[in-house]
Amino acid sequence: MIIRPERAGDEQAIHDVTAAAFEGHPHSDQSEPFIIERLRGEGALMLSLVAEEEGQIVGHVAFSPVTLTPPAAGWFGLGPVAVMRERQANGIGSRLIREGLAMLAADGALGCVVVGDPDYYQKFRFRHESSLVFPGCAPQYFMALAFSGAVPTGTVAYHPAFGTE
Ligand SMILES: CC(C)(COP(=O)(O)OP(=O)(O)OC[C@H]1O[C@@H](n2cnc3c(N)ncnc32)[C@H](O)[C@@H]1OP(=O)(O)O)[C@@H](O)C(=O)NCCC(=O)NCCS
Repeated sequence: MIIRPERAGDEQAIHDVTAAAFEGHPHSDQSEPFIIERLRGEGALMLSLVAEEEGQIVGHVAFSPVTLTPPAAGWFGLGPVAVMRERQANGIGSRLIREGLAMLAADGALGCVVVGDPDYYQKFRFRHESSLVFPGCAPQYFMALAFSGAVPTGTVAYHPAFGTE
């Protein structure tokens, strides 16, 4: 299995893997593949990694910039992340997330936020931080990881491609 940045021609496979992984998911409205497409279309897909096995894309993770109020630069949001159902629980999601976070940090990002299951994301050192607020989300499901420096204080908004505004 290799992890690599998406390239031209991967778009449909990323859509399909994401749609299938979120199908029937209790916290999904099935918008995830379209969020990725909107992010890409608006030039906000800051980092898009695929997991490839024998030429087949089996997993994907997206990172996009988030906006903080008051303004603070250098923060990104993780997601959507998806792994083909038949290949889940084999460490693929973890590798996508770890390598994505490492690339962001190496590129000078200051930190990353995520909305999701605390049991899963704490493995990557994400923690709920009371100084960062994501309106409309139960606090324990909104987590942050600072790569360098302190976690800022403020309110977080994902890119409009997420349709949460
Ligand atoms: C979440 C997801 C990307 C993880 O990918 P994966 O390749 O299955 O994950 P990994 O193999 O790296 O990790 C699996 C481990 O995480 C656990 N895990 C997976 N999803 C979890 C969840 N939602 N909550 C808690 N633990 C979870 C597994 O039990 C396993 O634990 P173990 O290592 O102690 O056995 C994948 O399960 C998926 O596509 N799910 C559907 C889409 C989704 O929920 N995306 C995330 C939305 S926030």
